Amino acid sequence: MISSDAGPSVQIDPDRSKGWFRRLIPLIAARRAAFLVVAATGLTGLSIQVAVPMVLKRAVDHVVDAGTSADPIGDLTDHVLVLFVMAVASFGLRFAYRYLLFGTACRIENDLRSHVYRHLTRLSFSFYDRVAAGEVISRANSDIRSIQLLLAFGPLAALSAFSFFMALAFMLSIHVPLAVVTVATMPFVYVLGQKLRDRVFPLSWITQGRMAEVAMVVDENVNGTRVVKSFAAEPAQIAILARAANRLRWSATALIDARARFNPVIEALPRLGMVLVLLYGGHLVINGHLGVGSLLAFSGYVTMIAMPFRMFGFVLLQAQRAAASAIRIYEILDEEPEIVDRPGALFLREVVGRIEFRDVRFAYPGVDQGPPVLDGFNLTIEPGETVALVGRTGCGKSTVARLLARFYDVDAGTILVDGHDVRDLTLASLRSTVNQVPDEAFLFSESLHDNVAFGQPTASRTEVVAAARIARADEFVEEFDGGYDEMVGERGYTLSGGQRQRIALARSILIDPKILVLDDATSAIDIRTEEEIHQRLSETMADRTTIVIAHRLSTIVLADRIALMEGGRVVATGTHAELLSLEPRYAAILTHSDGVDEDDKAGHHRRGRV
Ligand SMILES: Nc1ncnc2c1ncn2[C@@H]1O[C@H](COP(=O)(O)OP(=O)(O)O)[C@@H](O)[C@H]1O
Ligand SMILES: [Mg+2]
Repeated sequence: MISSDAGPSVQIDPDRSKGWFRRLIPLIAARRAAFLVVAATGLTGLSIQVAVPMVLKRAVDHVVDAGTSADPIGDLTDHVLVLFVMAVASFGLRFAYRYLLFGTACRIENDLRSHVYRHLTRLSFSFYDRVAAGEVISRANSDIRSIQLLLAFGPLAALSAFSFFMALAFMLSIHVPLAVVTVATMPFVYVLGQKLRDRVFPLSWITQGRMAEVAMVVDENVNGTRVVKSFAAEPAQIAILARAANRLRWSATALIDARARFNPVIEALPRLGMVLVLLYGGHLVINGHLGVGSLLAFSGYVTMIAMPFRMFGFVLLQAQRAAASAIRIYEILDEEPEIVDRPGALFLREVVGRIEFRDVRFAYPGVDQGPPVLDGFNLTIEPGETVALVGRTGCGKSTVARLLARFYDVDAGTILVDGHDVRDLTLASLRSTVNQVPDEAFLFSESLHDNVAFGQPTASRTEVVAAARIARADEFVEEFDGGYDEMVGERGYTLSGGQRQRIALARSILIDPKILVLDDATSAIDIRTEEEIHQRLSETMADRTTIVIAHRLSTIVLADRIALMEGGRVVATGTHAELLSLEPRYAAILTHSDGVDEDDKAGHHRRGRV
């Protein structure tokens, strides 16, 4: 029952008008069985614990009045036995409820985390354009943790408050003035605890921030080690790290200092209470107003009741932090994915591969200045055709590709695939129809096989090899010791640019999309190999529609037709020969982009030619 997994489907309450805690309730309610068990075991365990001093009192009183009993030794043994059983039961139950409570809090943390991550995967490109994703994710992680802490310590504090009131009731039933004296020290425990937190919390906050700072410097230097080394910037970077580490050392030392000063005091205070109890209670015993057993019971309670006072301030603070954290997490969760399936969206089957851009206008969300990236963009591509999109850097070629896969929605006009508006198709069917290979191939830190099989994880080795062959990746893969099982280093750094591009190409070839967009996808591959790849591509899939975005003349001339882009629209289409003779802007861009490209190529080829 406890481990029953509420599953990944639990969500926060979508009603934004509710308070942060009420919005969290569905997540908590999904685990209510576990919380009930926690409450039951906790209340029982604590009740037994609080009752122990009472039984002790009776046992001692019994020993003192031993004369009145017929079997004093037998009675004592009974009492000791009862105490023993109580101690064991209380220990067992208290262990169980803490274990269950922390376990449940962690499960809710998990539920929330998968909820947040699932949501992040649903969010559109425009969200990731706006925010630094890495920062959002690491912040979400610590925010989720702080909610978890509240869910663990909140109930713990509630239970300890319960045990306080129960102990208070027992003490009052024995001796009212002594009970008052015993409780009198507790406000000091609270105040001192508060003082410690005021001192320690800012420090631990600062320390955490500085730890993150050090981690960031290390992370950047490890990931950017190529840049650091090529500029021989190691000494400067080490100095930066040393400064960050020094700042961390200062706050960490101050933190330990504050803790070392206050913690012993807080721990000693209940003992001060004990002194008062013994002083006043001792007097009462000597004067015959109180039994020895009662005094013993009070000394037991004095240490027991300090707990809620120590926890209260902590939980209050944790609640504030959790509230702030929840608000930040809700900011992510309330972010609506902009690109979603419309109700009743069509699942495209039997794709022919006809593409039509009709009067498309588009500007990136949040970019208000300047003309839109695309304005009056018209282009029709017939099934099986290969069209090269040519234009200056920044003229919007990649944007066309992104709009076709519906990573963004157009501001005006329509994009049709096989006569259907892309907004009327399910994203799943659109994106399995239209696949694009970007110039900066992103590889995962997995094996080469898994990287190629990314879009179709069940693919066999034979299928993977066949795709790699078309992309001319098989030759270099076979040279690795591990072959296709060779692991790719982080982000593919163990491969050259051209090798990465070929793996990315194989990845797209494997899923055999009806419409393929090659966005500068072969820019780092040498011209001869590239030509062979295009040759193999056209052999194996004659009925595929292909959009090629390229700078190289050698790539451009392979296309059936060329569309020249300028000012956010297609200004001319035709074959290479037609455009060359009829369109001066085409010739201009070719010379221009070739000029740019030479630099580009030189850069790429250092990594790319293999
Ligand atoms: N995510 C984005 N957010 C805002 N502006 C963008 C974004 N991506 C591209 N742009 C801008 O849109 C224009 C077209 O970019 P792009 O389509 O990548 O050009 P190309 O692929 O032709 O070089 C450029 O001016 C670029 O700065
Ligand atoms: Mg581009």
